[in-house]
Amino acid sequence: MTERVYVFDTTLRDGEQSPGASMNIEEKLLLARQLEKLRVDVIEGGFPISSDGDFESVKRIAEEIRTVSIAGLARAAKIDIDRCWDAVKPAAKPRIHTFIATSDIHLKYKLKKSREAVLEDARQAVRYAKSLCQDVEFSAEDAARSDLDYLCRVIEAVIEEGATVINVPDTVGYAIPSEFGESIRYIRTHVPNIGKAVLSVHCHNDLGLAVANSLIAVQNGVRQVECTINGIGERAGNASLEEIVMALHTRKDLFDLECGVNTREIYPASGLLTNLTGLVVQANKAIVGRNAFAHEAGIHQDGVIKEKLTYEIMTPETVGIKDSKLIMGKHSGRHALKRKYEELGFDLSQAALEKAYVLFKKVADRKKEVFDEDLIVIVRDGLRIFPEAYRLKYVQSSGGNQIIATAAVMLEKEGELMRDSAVGDGPVDAALRAIDRITGMPGRLMDFSVRSVTRGTDAVGEVFMKVDFGNVSFIGKAASTDIVDASTRAYLNAINKMVHYQMAVAEHKEGQLGTEVV
Ligand code: KIV
Ligand code: ZN
Repeated sequence: MTERVYVFDTTLRDGEQSPGASMNIEEKLLLARQLEKLRVDVIEGGFPISSDGDFESVKRIAEEIRTVSIAGLARAAKIDIDRCWDAVKPAAKPRIHTFIATSDIHLKYKLKKSREAVLEDARQAVRYAKSLCQDVEFSAEDAARSDLDYLCRVIEAVIEEGATVINVPDTVGYAIPSEFGESIRYIRTHVPNIGKAVLSVHCHNDLGLAVANSLIAVQNGVRQVECTINGIGERAGNASLEEIVMALHTRKDLFDLECGVNTREIYPASGLLTNLTGLVVQANKAIVGRNAFAHEAGIHQDGVIKEKLTYEIMTPETVGIKDSKLIMGKHSGRHALKRKYEELGFDLSQAALEKAYVLFKKVADRKKEVFDEDLIVIVRDGLRIFPEAYRLKYVQSSGGNQIIATAAVMLEKEGELMRDSAVGDGPVDAALRAIDRITGMPGRLMDFSVRSVTRGTDAVGEVFMKVDFGNVSFIGKAASTDIVDASTRAYLNAINKMVHYQMAVAEHKEGQLGTEVV
C-alpha cells in the first residue's frame, strides 16, 4: 500500500510571525476554513501563551474546524502546555506541539542550560502534555545545527514519554539538502524506537532551500512536512506548501506517496492569504505567481498551442486557477455573484453576500468588467471586524502639479454628521488631515502602499497602511477604483481599530487585543 505524507500547515502560527502578516481572529478563521477545504492534515492555529488574541483564535479554530487536527504551540513548560491545552481541547482532533532547542548554540546563549537539563525538560514536557492530550508533537528547535547523537538521545527519550510526532526543524535555514537528507537517515537508523512516531521536518528558507530540504527529507523517510501558504514565515519564510505538494503530485513517479491535499484549492488559498495580509507573491513565484503559467516567448507559445506538454509540467486547473467564463458586470445579480464567489472558493453567508453585493454594485458602476481579483478584495474589504465608530459619507479632493491640494471629508459617528476640510501635500495627505481635524486623533503614517489588483486604468487599487497613534499602531486596509477614496477608508479602518482599542483599554481588557500591531 502506498504510504501517506501528512501536511502540517503553520501559516497561522509561523507564517503569521512574518512582518506584516498579522491577522485578526475573523481573518484567521477565514483562512482556517480554506485550509480545511484544502484538506491539509494539521492546522497549527497559533501559540496560545503568546497573547490572549492568539489563545482566542486557536480556541475558535478548534471549536469550528472538525475534519483537521488542530495544533497549538507551547514551549517545554507546564504553563505553556496548560494554556495550549485549554485552547486546543475543543478540537475533534487536538494536538499539543511542544518544543525546546537542542543545539549547543541555543543551549549556551539562550537557555543557559546543560544538555542533560534540556533532555530532562523535554522529557517532562512531553510526559505532561501526554497526560492531557493523546496527540503530542515534539520539536527539537535548531535541530539542523544540533549534535546528531545528542539529538537522537532527546528524540528517543521523548518517544518513550509518548510523543506521537517528532519534528526536526531547520530553524535558521542553514542545512544543505544532501546533508539534511543524511541527518534524517541517521536519526532513522540511530533512534531505536523511531518507528513509534511520525518523523517530521520544518524547514526555513534563509538560503532558499526550504522546499528542497523538505523533499530530500521525505525521500529519506520523513512522513510529515511543515509548511505555509505562499511560503510566508519568519525572516525568509517557511517551506512553501504549494511547492511541496505540487512536487509530490507532479513527480509521483519518483516519490510514490499519497498526499491528501486537494490541489484545486491551492490557488484560492494563496489568493485569500494575499488578500488578508497584503503580502503579495512575486510574479514568478512557483505555482501561484501571476506568471507561473504564462508563456511569453514565441517558441514556447507555439509549442504550447501545438501540445501543452511541450512546456507545461502541470496544468493551471490542477492548482485551481480557473479560466472562468462567468463575466461579472453591472447587470449581474446576487445569484451570479454568489456562484462566482463559490467558484473563487468563498462560502459567503447571506449577510456577507449582501455586504459584498453593495460594494460590488459600486465597483460595477464604475467599471465595465469586474475581475476575480476585484471580487476577492470586495469580500476582504467588506469584512469589517472592528465596529465602525466613524463611517465615510464622502471625500472630495482636488490636486495637481500647479495647485495646492485640498480635500473635504464628511464622516458619520453614531448618526451625527461631521465635516471638515484641509490642505496637504497632495490629495491623500489633505484628506487624512481633514479626518484628523474631525476625529481629533491624528495618526502618523508609518507604512503606505497602493497596489493595483486588476488590469487597466480603472483597476481597483488596494491601500495598506500602518498608522502610529503614539503607543500603538494599527494596520488599515481598503480598496477602491479611486486612490483617494481607498486611502481615506484605509485610514478610517485604522482609526476605528484605535477607537475599539481605547474602549477595550478603558474596560481593562487590554490583553484581548493581542499583538501591538493588528
Ligand atoms: O523554526 C522552528 O524551529 C519552529 C519550531 C517552534 C517548530 O518554528
Ligand atoms: Zn519555524
